[in-house]
Amino acid sequence: MSNEWLDTIVVARHDATARIVVLDLVSPAGAELPEFAAGAHVDVLVDGAAGLVRQYSLCGPPHDRARYRLAVLAEEASRGGSLGMHRLRAGDRLRISRPRNRFGVSDQARRHLLMAGGIGVTPLLAMAHELEARGAEYTLHHFARSRPDSAFLDELEQNPRVRLHFDDGPDDQRFISATDLGPPDPDTAIYVCGPGGFMDFVISLALGAGWPAEAIHKERFAPVEDAAAHTAGTTFRVRLAKTGGEYEVKDGESVLDVLLAGGVDAPYSCQQGICGECIVRVLAGEPDHRDDILTDRERADGMFTTCSSRAHSPILELDL
Ligand code: FES
Repeated sequence: MSNEWLDTIVVARHDATARIVVLDLVSPAGAELPEFAAGAHVDVLVDGAAGLVRQYSLCGPPHDRARYRLAVLAEEASRGGSLGMHRLRAGDRLRISRPRNRFGVSDQARRHLLMAGGIGVTPLLAMAHELEARGAEYTLHHFARSRPDSAFLDELEQNPRVRLHFDDGPDDQRFISATDLGPPDPDTAIYVCGPGGFMDFVISLALGAGWPAEAIHKERFAPVEDAAAHTAGTTFRVRLAKTGGEYEVKDGESVLDVLLAGGVDAPYSCQQGICGECIVRVLAGEPDHRDDILTDRERADGMFTTCSSRAHSPILELDL
């Protein structure tokens, strides 16, 4: 993994809901933390001995370089990541990566529609801070099962640009797509983050209403398909333009796995097709894109995710 780890200390911790813990991290030396833009996430080394790394969005104001804020939902099917984060206490040390961002605020749009499902509010909260600072026009729709399931409720309720939608709430707070989403508007960008089912619903609603895919910015916490769907397929070869090395990628293997096994210093992080850290350029051959992060334009520009995509052609040449 191409990570330079930063040491931080948990300076504050509180249970925002029964299942969501909020952690504030600072530099042990009291120094400023690296700059970030709204929508960014960090890799967190949850368990160094086990090599357990997870990605969490930064949800505090981007202008606050004194501390990073993370909010972590205890996953029912946790494989150690979220439970490890919930065990942290004030004073504990935590290693994180520098912030990365593939989910930033659009510079082209004049209006911004933020759609947050549950814990998906985290990057969108940072965006709300940034949009507020820019004086931009935005609305944040926050969807949750109930008030007790909602983190940051005080902050959300104080913001007149926020609309809250609870599954168990009264009818007058229901989301009405005809007015809350509305018809396509070339000056508006939509941002979606949350559980897979929520995201699929919002995205299909927007596409069905005629919004172009380029207007919809999304960040997933989990892959749409399992790893097997990413790696199943016929054997092909990968050629690295910079070294001339060639590697065979068989059914059940990812390009990234094969490159790492071959000692190649390829970039990566999540290995699940959601972070974008492994993106490289294809120089020749026909990619079989299986990620859910690259836009059509990025694919047309030759971008390729080594952790989750394959090749239709017998050989794929990468800019590595
Ligand atoms: S390593 Fe995260 S998308 Fe490939």
